[in-house]
Amino acid sequence: MKPKVLFLLPPGWNALGRETFHSPHYEALFADRDSLDPASIDYFVGFRPPPGFLKTLSKLKLVISLGAGVDGFLSDPEFPKEIPLVRFTDPQLGIEMAQYVTMHALIIHRHQRYFDQAQKEGVWRQLMLPRATDKTRIGILGLGEIGGRIATALAQYGFALSGWSRTRKEIAGVKSFAGDGELGAFLGQCDILACVLPQTPGTAGMLNAGFFAQMAKGAWVINVARGGLLVEEDLITALDRDHLAGAVLDVFRTEPLPEGNPLWAHPKVTVTPHIAGITDPRAALAHVENSVLAFEAGKALDDIVDVSRGY
Ligand code: GLV
Repeated sequence: MKPKVLFLLPPGWNALGRETFHSPHYEALFADRDSLDPASIDYFVGFRPPPGFLKTLSKLKLVISLGAGVDGFLSDPEFPKEIPLVRFTDPQLGIEMAQYVTMHALIIHRHQRYFDQAQKEGVWRQLMLPRATDKTRIGILGLGEIGGRIATALAQYGFALSGWSRTRKEIAGVKSFAGDGELGAFLGQCDILACVLPQTPGTAGMLNAGFFAQMAKGAWVINVARGGLLVEEDLITALDRDHLAGAVLDVFRTEPLPEGNPLWAHPKVTVTPHIAGITDPRAALAHVENSVLAFEAGKALDDIVDVSRGY
């Protein structure tokens, strides 16, 4: 009998037809379309299942995340920790995140918002821009696979690069800061900070008033990781006091960002709707198929999450 794979699709995937998920190697079922026997499910595939849901799948062998970040699973207090969890990694995702960060870093570095405003006013207004040799300092908070790709992309533009991670990383051209003891020194030397940390109990709320106070005056924050890492009220205070110059936010504590949230209209904030890196359904389904085949064959899986670490 073929193993049964239960999909709980993120809203953006609902338009995809059943045939998209067909595989000769398993039977695909859909949590919101099929009537199910929870005890018959072998594999679960999703992004942010409702808390307590996975616990009801009593025969589950493996959980497959459709996202690189797995906080949507591990924030469930009843997540069955004895079942292996595999996250989705895809070089394409890292490249897209690197494009997003590079684009915004260049917009900041070259003062593009100033020229956008001048055009709106119909005024020919030049500004002395930083020279190519004036190195804007960009710090990457989180130097894992995605952080490394961002550093590689930025390196082409002559920025002065640094990164912070729990353990020290060796990446050519990137000054590495590590651990809590070096966080302050790292923050004090960034003109632009790009956050790509995973959200875990240890990082939730980390970008708070105390954190912003350690950042250089006039610095920018780009958050492409998770909204729960950043305390939105503290960011707004740091912007309103002119300690920070601006923020580019792709992720939010509550998504979609609620109507009326002050970030929508804040003059120093750019809001995008969690699009910096979007999982490609084709790549994700290849990953699901490979993971199921490997698991059924008793092979070791790549990208198994260390549940105690949270990523
Ligand atoms: C997207 O947010 C992901 O975790 O891949």
